[in-house]
Formats: sequence, structure tokens, C-alpha cells
Amino acid sequence: PQSISGRGRVSRLVSLSWMWFLLSVCQAQRATDDKPNIVLIMADDLGIGDLGCYGNDTIRTPNIDRLAAEGVKLSQHISAASLCTPSRTAFLTGRYPIRSGVCVPTPRLLVPAGLPLNETTFAAVAKKQGYSTALIGKWHQGLNSRYRSDHNHHPYNYGFDYFYGMPFSLFTPCWPDPSRDTELAISCRLWICVQLLAVTALTLTFGKLSCWFRVPWFVILLMILFTFLLCCVWYYSYTSGLYWDCILMREEEITEQPMKAERAGSIMMKEAVSFLERHREEPFLLFYSFLHVHVPCPTMENFIGTSKHGLYGDNVQEMDFFVGKLLDAIDNLGLRNHTVIYFTSDHGGQLESRLGHVQLGGWNGIYKGGKGMGGWEGGIHVPGLLRWPGKLPAGKVIEEPTSLMDIFPTVAALTGGTVPQDRVIDGQNLMPLLQGAVQHSEHEFLFHYCGVYLHAARWNPKDSQAVWKVHYVTPVFQPPGAQACYETKLCECSGEGVRYHDPPLLFDLSRDPSESTPLTGDTEPLYELVIKTVADAVQAHRKTIIPVQLQLGKELNEDRVWLKPCCGVFPFCLCDKEGNTSNLGP
Ligand SMILES: *[C@@H]1O[C@H](CO)[C@@H](O)[C@H](O)[C@H]1NC(C)=O
Ligand SMILES: *[C@@H]1O[C@H](CO)[C@@H](O)[C@H](O)[C@H]1NC(C)=O
Ligand SMILES: *[C@@H]1O[C@H](CO)[C@@H](O)[C@H](O)[C@H]1NC(C)=O
Ligand SMILES: *[C@@H]1O[C@H](CO)[C@@H](O)[C@H](O)[C@H]1NC(C)=O
Repeated sequence: PQSISGRGRVSRLVSLSWMWFLLSVCQAQRATDDKPNIVLIMADDLGIGDLGCYGNDTIRTPNIDRLAAEGVKLSQHISAASLCTPSRTAFLTGRYPIRSGVCVPTPRLLVPAGLPLNETTFAAVAKKQGYSTALIGKWHQGLNSRYRSDHNHHPYNYGFDYFYGMPFSLFTPCWPDPSRDTELAISCRLWICVQLLAVTALTLTFGKLSCWFRVPWFVILLMILFTFLLCCVWYYSYTSGLYWDCILMREEEITEQPMKAERAGSIMMKEAVSFLERHREEPFLLFYSFLHVHVPCPTMENFIGTSKHGLYGDNVQEMDFFVGKLLDAIDNLGLRNHTVIYFTSDHGGQLESRLGHVQLGGWNGIYKGGKGMGGWEGGIHVPGLLRWPGKLPAGKVIEEPTSLMDIFPTVAALTGGTVPQDRVIDGQNLMPLLQGAVQHSEHEFLFHYCGVYLHAARWNPKDSQAVWKVHYVTPVFQPPGAQACYETKLCECSGEGVRYHDPPLLFDLSRDPSESTPLTGDTEPLYELVIKTVADAVQAHRKTIIPVQLQLGKELNEDRVWLKPCCGVFPFCLCDKEGNTSNLGP
């Protein structure tokens, strides 16, 4: 009996320590204050003036405003570029896009180039710390580089464990009128015709060779020629972009080609909620990269006509609705206090997007200029909200300069990781500033690029309220007298399309946030000092730039048929694997 009870005690001890082990493993894996969950939300082309919490009184954005009320609002949050791809590159890597060579002068689709594989993203940093990582939504950092499905630049190669969304970007052809469905039906029939013709031609050839039929060769040849012609006609009639660029992928599989843009938002949200549910027990990082509010602003029927600002306003309100869904999901899973949420826009609204006479691009509030305009404030001054209940003050506004590049080192700090030591990181960990441990941002200078060209720089001196902004190059607006590049649709970064300023233009944003009246030596006693100090800073910055291969040179960007993603048999790339997904209407 002794030995039995002894054995019993041992087995109880073993099972207890086993339980303790299991418990401690579970504890270690749950998101905690040491390893909070991270949800980064990025809007596409949203203007800072479009949100209630940044002063808009006609567009309703209650969910985004709630984030601002419950967290910190950054009032001088600056993107590293005023175009999608380079701005996102800088956001992902914490480095000016010129350092990785992703400096697109025009928003092309980045084929076959992409974010260099030796760049480290915040997802890779978090993953190394045991986080589950996902990208849901827009990627736009490249896809294929050698053949149709090599997926060399897929998010999986940059630290993301899961991907659902658009490898490219929305653009106008992605949301054609509903007649597309008929067009799709016709193209499907054409594909069947081609298949039938090909099978018949093959049968006839085989029959002729086996002497079963007596069909003249020229008939067979004609048939083959006709089939080939049909393929060519099909391909060339669908170079519209809708078929080749407007696609959705889940992991590495194309799920919709062409995509049904107005329902993409609902599916993305379902994917996000399901990711949160799958990973609620372990720390995760979700980069939720909205397709909203980029043109053509695909909007669900139940949001059409709900705003006072046409389709664009409806689309902003729909985006806010989805932000609400995401916040609700986080609350419902009990993750609220262990989740840091960030909201921003990749850059300012595009002033040139119009549908007839109606504005279809964002509103940049009091700031001058917009998307694609290098240094003007409207293109780079974006919303920045951070919420972490109990850890970050609620309702605080921080006016110090911050950058989208700061998210990279901030994620490293939050996850317990480190930033790479073998390269320059331009971002700064935001936590000390957000939590009030320091009063001043580390960003004394920020540089504003247009493609590879440095157009402007800002200086926030540590000991003064002034925010100096020096412009060396500005785009030439057209037609004359306009405040944007309406004729070319997008401003140029160099050459004929810009004006070089020597002496440079100087503004003090603290007194003149709209950059309306340049200061001169006569109106500003510090003029010479500021121009000299900023010029020195620019020179010092330039010394840190190591030339790398540019990812978006013209020769890399040509249309390459063999790189086009295809769901089906080329050129008949058509599929819809989502079936009938009913949307998450309000
Ligand atoms: C609100 O946003 C709309 C749409 O972008 C814009 O037209 C309007 O001027 C904005 N209102 C304010 C007060 O900023
Ligand atoms: C979350 O944090 C807030 C603020 O510190 C606190 O009041 C609340 O009780 C916390 N909720 C939970 C479920 O821990
Ligand atoms: C990545 O590789 C390129 C090409 O070899 C090189 O020029 C660049 O410096 C590398 N970048 C980093 C961050 O190591
Ligand atoms: C899709 O499903 C919804 C509800 O489940 C239904 O009302 C609708 O008719 C379906 N649409 C199609 C095209 O099958």
C-alpha cells in the first residue's frame, strides 16, 4: 500500500507540474502588456480633412472619431511620400523609400519590380517575436518578377503569415458599370467556343492522320488560325486593366479575376474577423490595408447616397462602418485592453480625381496640395490615431512631428523585438512620446521626396514653436491658376513639370499652415539662419543615402504579358471563387 500511495503522489505531482507547464505555456502565448496585439489600419488616399476628429462636420465617421477620443491623436503625422507605393514601403520598413529604391515617379503597377527581399518589414520583426501576422487588403509592393506565378514579391516573403486582398491597387477600370456582368458572360462563351474549336481541330487532325476522315488540310489549318485569332482578339480586347490588375487573392491563390470591387470590403472584413478569432489566444499583428477610399470608390448599394458629399463621401462613411466592425470584433473577443490600434492614411487625398464635375478624391482640409505633389503639406499631412486602453492617455493630442515610418520601430518596441542594426532606420519609437515620458519628438528634420527627388524639408527646432518648411522644388500646377495638376492628372517630380526655387521658399507652418505666403529676408529675421540650417541638414541626410537599384525605372515597368497573374488558362483568365457572399450591410 505504501508504494501504491507513493506512486499516487508521484503521479499527482507529475500531473500537477504538467498542468503548471501547460498553463505557463498558455500564459506565455496570450497577448499581454508585454506583447500586446497590434492592429494597423491604413486608408488609401484619404484626406486629413475627411474625418470628424480632424474637423470635418459633414462627413460622419463616428467609429474613427471614437478611436481618437479613446486614444492619442497625432496632429503633425507625416507620410514619407505622397504616392501609395513609396509611402507604404516606408511605412513597412521604417526607412525613406529612396533607401530601398522604391521611388515610383508615377503610380504604375510595379511589374516586375517590388520591395527588395532584403528589406525587413514590421511584420517580419513581429513574427520573429512569435506573433501571428496577416495582411488584409492592398499590398502594392510587387508580385511576380520572372514568370506568371513565381510570387517573388508576395507578402509571404516579407513576414506575413496570411494574406487576403489585392496584390495591386484599385484604379478606375476596377469598378465598371453593371453591364460588366454581361460582358463577363460573353467572354465566358468565347472561351467555350475556343475550347470547342481547339478540340474539333485536334480531332480532325487526328482523324486525318488516321485516315478516318477526308478533310482537306487547309480547313484544319484555317480552324487553328481562327482559334489563334480568337485568343488574340480576346486578349487585346481585355487589356483594359480590369482583367489583369483588378484581382483578389487568398494566400497564393487568385480568388477573383476580375474582382467584384463593391463586395471586396465585406469579404475583407470577414477575413479579418476570422483571423482575429483564429488567433485570439496568441499575440498577433494585423495590417488592415483598406481599398477605401481610392478611386473609383466602389461602394455597397446600402451606402450609396448616405453622405452629403456624393460617392466619395459615401465611400468614406462605408470605410468608417468597417472600422466599427473591426473595433467591435476586437471588443467582442475580449481583446480590447491587449490590443494597440493605429489608424492612418498612406498620404493625402487626390485633388485631381473627379467624376464629371464632382470631386471623387479626398479633402486635405486647410493644407495646400494633395497626392503626388512632393512637398506640399496636403499630400503628406495625414491622420494618425493610436489607442491602447489603460496604456495610452485617452483624448490626448500630440502636436510634435511624427512619421508613418515611426510605426516600424514602435512595433519592434511593443513586440520586444529589435530593429535591424545593419542599415539606417529613419523612424523613431513613438511610445515615449505617446506615454508622456518625453515631450519632444526625435524628428528635428523630416525630408519630403517626390520620386527620387528631394523637394522640401521641415525643421521643428527643439527650443521653439516654429515649424519651418523649406521648398526647393514645387510642381507646376495646370491649367495656369489651378491648385492641382488637372491636365496631367498627376504632378511631375522633375523636368518641365516643376519649378526650382533658388532661393528656396520658406514657410512657418505654425503661423501659416496653408503655406500661402512665403517668408523672405525682409519679412523673417531668421530667414538666413533657417535656410542655412536646413540646407546643412539636407546635406547630412544625403550623405546617409547609399545608391541602390531603383525598383521602378521605366524599363522595369513595361507591360509584360508573361508576368500577368492568371486564374484559368491564359489568356482566358477568369474566375470567381467567392460565389455568392452576402454582404455585411448595416
Ligand atoms: C468634409 O469632407 C468633404 C468631402 O471630402 C469636403 O467636401 C468638405 O469640405 C469637408 N468639410 C470640412 C468642414 O472640412
Ligand atoms: C481595460 O482597461 C480599462 C482602463 O484601464 C479598465 O477600466 C477596464 O476595466 C479594463 N477592462 C478589462 C476587461 O480588463
Ligand atoms: C539589398 O541588396 C541590394 C542589392 O544587393 C543592396 O544594394 C542593398 O544595400 C541591400 N539592402 C540592405 C538593407 O541590405
Ligand atoms: C445571394 O444570396 C442572397 C442571400 O443569401 C440572396 O438573396 C441572393 O439572391 C443571392 N444572389 C445570387 C446572385 O444568387
